[in-house]
Amino acid sequence: MDLSDRVAIVTGSGRGIGRAIALRLAEAGANVVVNDVGDMAPAGEVVEEIRRLGQDSLVVPADVSQPDDVASLVDTTVEKYGKVDILVNNAGITRDQLIMRMSDDDWDKVLEINLKSVFLCSRAVLRHMMRQRWGRIVNISSIVGLIGNPGQANYSSSKAGIIGLTRTIAKEVASRGITANAIAPGFIDTPMTQQLPEERRQAIMEQVPLGFLGTPRDVAEAVAFLASEEARYITGQVLTIDGGISLGKL
Ligand SMILES: NC(=O)c1ccc[n+]([C@@H]2O[C@H](COP(=O)([O-])OP(=O)(O)OC[C@H]3O[C@@H](n4cnc5c(N)ncnc54)[C@H](O)[C@@H]3O)[C@@H](O)[C@H]2O)c1
Repeated sequence: MDLSDRVAIVTGSGRGIGRAIALRLAEAGANVVVNDVGDMAPAGEVVEEIRRLGQDSLVVPADVSQPDDVASLVDTTVEKYGKVDILVNNAGITRDQLIMRMSDDDWDKVLEINLKSVFLCSRAVLRHMMRQRWGRIVNISSIVGLIGNPGQANYSSSKAGIIGLTRTIAKEVASRGITANAIAPGFIDTPMTQQLPEERRQAIMEQVPLGFLGTPRDVAEAVAFLASEEARYITGQVLTIDGGISLGKL
């Protein structure tokens, strides 16, 4: 896969899956805008690694649930590189709680950061992609958006919403050479899942037919493919990357 001369924005790419995606796209030849919120030191390190790979990169702090921040993320990218070809909507959070105990704030925050952000960032880049008649949007959903998960009413709803949004974007912009796809990872070893108690991680691993947790790189490989020219005939799809966990048991 050759992404030479492509310009990519990867949201929430200071660590975890987003970091692996940013590095993988850079390995394929893309210049990558690294976005995160809060402590920007890890994002700065990702930029350094991308530069060592020989690509250009810059860090743009932005809370992707906020319209003004998203405008500045996309404007800064276009000012620096003249275009944006690839958007990976990766930023996401969890605030787990059984529905009976879930606060309004836990619901709103997760929907804003996980789902509204995808709407805001996609809308902002599409203007540029439509003009150049080429673009790739890859949204990071989750298998829990497909199958649900106790304690994750907010998170699973946001991830299911991403799938509907992805399919709608795919239909709205297909005629302009732009594709939109979603990836639904299972359990991937990142700071997000490292918060889980060890017994829970072991129990999950036992349910994975392939027998191990995925790595951020496993997700990043699929993103690089969907962002490439080779994937030009794939749009509106959801690719599950979960070691087989969502196949269920007999
Ligand atoms: N780890 C998994 O098992 C798993 C499984 C399925 C889906 N996912 C999804 O993959 C994505 C990445 O997950 P991860 O495990 O790498 O998580 P992570 O917590 O390790 O990283 C998420 C990144 O997003 C950033 N972020 C959070 N809110 C933001 C905001 N408002 N604006 C900009 N950046 C923000 C964080 O600072 C962090 O750098 C998320 O959307 C997550 O829901 C993860």
